[in-house]
Amino acid sequence: MSLLEVKHVSKRFGGLKAINDVSFLVKPGEVTFIVGPNGAGKTTLFNLITSVFHADSGSIHFEGRDISHLTPNGAAEIGIGRTFQLVKPLRNLTVLENVMLGAFLRTSSASKAEKEAAKVLSFLQMENVANLPARGMGLPTLKRLEIARALATQPKLILLDEVVAGLPTSEAIKLAMLLKRLPEWGISTIGGIEHVMQVVMRVADRVIVLDHGVLIAEGVPQDVVHRPEVIEAYLGSKYKEIAL
Ligand SMILES: Nc1ncnc2c1ncn2[C@@H]1O[C@H](COP(=O)(O)OP(=O)(O)OP(=O)(O)O)[C@@H](O)[C@H]1O
Ligand SMILES: [Mg+2]
Repeated sequence: MSLLEVKHVSKRFGGLKAINDVSFLVKPGEVTFIVGPNGAGKTTLFNLITSVFHADSGSIHFEGRDISHLTPNGAAEIGIGRTFQLVKPLRNLTVLENVMLGAFLRTSSASKAEKEAAKVLSFLQMENVANLPARGMGLPTLKRLEIARALATQPKLILLDEVVAGLPTSEAIKLAMLLKRLPEWGISTIGGIEHVMQVVMRVADRVIVLDHGVLIAEGVPQDVVHRPEVIEAYLGSKYKEIAL
């Protein structure tokens, strides 16, 4: 059975079709990346899957259940975690305490939340900053903190919105190699990413390409990046070298 099933989903903002009849499936344990330029509709799609917005038409099923009309909290409770494109931790709390806020979705016990948060921080190789205040952390740490907070909610599916954006390539690849291991924890992943094709090529089992809200290609990365319509519509000639 599919973990997530997005069927003919559309979302308008006034006259703009931000998502236009998009359908795709995510299987358990799969890492899917959604690529597309600024304004392609990646964040809107994440907002629809997490019920921040509701689709104008179409349906979204998670583990066979229609989740088209949940609340964002309801989506988190059934196991859909997410990160936000703009990272905004509580600056006066420590890194560990910020991650514990995620863990409190599943427990009201501070010691259990701390244990879960510590486990996630260890996976993300962040033990050395656990007890430091989030204030003053650089972007690479803040991006990892955002992932850690989402992982601490113990999701079955995690939506990562531009988690490597703005990171130096070496840092982005290091983080991507960690993300590739999420299926070992039973977590499926959907990453949204603007370009950084080196990350997509290394991590993704499947790639979906969005262009102006329309799904224009889908498949394994090695195949998708070679398709003329993808190179033409999205990657452009400057990415041709990486892709080919
Ligand atoms: N709440 C909103 N109200 C009106 N228009 C919106 C809203 N959210 C997104 N849009 C518009 O919908 C389109 C898709 O935006 P979206 O943020 O989903 O794209 P994106 O692929 O995430 O882009 P980026 O790479 O810049 O993050 C854009 O034209 C955007 O301006
Ligand atoms: Mg976005």
